[in-house]
Amino acid sequence: MNFASSAPPSPKSHPNLGLKDRNTFGFDATAQWAFEIDTAEQIPGIMQQIAEQKLPWRVLGGGSNVILPKVLPGATLLMNISGIKVDDAGEFTRITVGGGVNWHEFVAWTLENNFPGLENLALIPGTVGAAPIQNIGAYGLEVGEFIESVQAYDTKDQAFVTLNKDACCFAYRDSYFKQNPQRFIVTKVVFKTPKHWQARIHYADLAKQFESNPKPSAEEIFLAVCKIRTHKLPDPKVIGNAGSFFQNPIIPNEQYETLLHKYPGLISYPDRSGKRKLAAGWLIDQCGFKGQRMGHVGVYENQALVLVNHGEGTAQDILGLAKCIQEAVRKEFGVSLEIEPNIL
Ligand code: EPU
Repeated sequence: MNFASSAPPSPKSHPNLGLKDRNTFGFDATAQWAFEIDTAEQIPGIMQQIAEQKLPWRVLGGGSNVILPKVLPGATLLMNISGIKVDDAGEFTRITVGGGVNWHEFVAWTLENNFPGLENLALIPGTVGAAPIQNIGAYGLEVGEFIESVQAYDTKDQAFVTLNKDACCFAYRDSYFKQNPQRFIVTKVVFKTPKHWQARIHYADLAKQFESNPKPSAEEIFLAVCKIRTHKLPDPKVIGNAGSFFQNPIIPNEQYETLLHKYPGLISYPDRSGKRKLAAGWLIDQCGFKGQRMGHVGVYENQALVLVNHGEGTAQDILGLAKCIQEAVRKEFGVSLEIEPNIL
């Protein structure tokens, strides 16, 4: 028996790979070594080499939630695992999806194949594998509620693991994966979509769209979400950005009451923790940053929560602007803003 032939092929590697087209900010970054991960089986071997050589490493999915430095030393794993598999799970449909599949294409696929549920999450940039890490959410829905389990390589225990939904500890823009950085490499995500679908249009922007059509189809919601996002958020292909740059801050109710008294226009929502979630975009807007420019970077003109790269910007520029915003919001409202994308 030839043992060598049963070993998984080594991932394709690229020295000094330019990543300008692989991060939605469009930062001019170079990966010292990039490895294309096409199958989960390639991961243990490459991680062993990385550990032996004590190389720094990270995974890059769609590059839509990262701030890249000029050089990424060591190994950058490009997550390319593909494939979609469907099983019947009684009341639900179980859909197992490769971590490298494009998120929006997957959402469009679920609708074409009549598995509604994820339509509120249309047009979010990035990959399926990245979705559970920050528990992507939009228009009244978070991905965590549709996830049955996540399959990953655990670099600490050097083993493939399956974490069920509870073990993933999903919360607002948070998960067990985010709490344990540099530990898990997500290979597949297992979704459960309900066979008895119900429209979710309570989020203000969506409710407005459907004032005269209270029973929209999943396809109509998908199209409405695409329309709202296209209007409010810049297309990364046209102007570099990573979606919301800050999380919406969650503050104690007493602090909220005091703020509301001083700023009656304050926009907020009850959070499931019992505390209050403030609209960070509104806070930044009130400080006068909307549409402002600072060198090569700036604040988007239609949504103050989105920072943009006007072309030649760098990680340093965007973090400089972020610091000004954080200081202004802290000074005016006494509220701290936390940066949402990963700073690599
Ligand atoms: N607002 C302003 N001025 C602004 C921006 C917002 O007054 O410049 C106000 C809006 O009018 C609205 C409120 O703030 O009343 C909230 O704004 P919006 O509905 O646009 O949502 P958001 O809280 O700014 C969050 C998510 C988005 C997601 C939308 C829709 C976070 C950090 N961001 O934004 O997610 O698409 O809700 O559900 O939770 C992302 O994470 O990258 C992202 C785009």
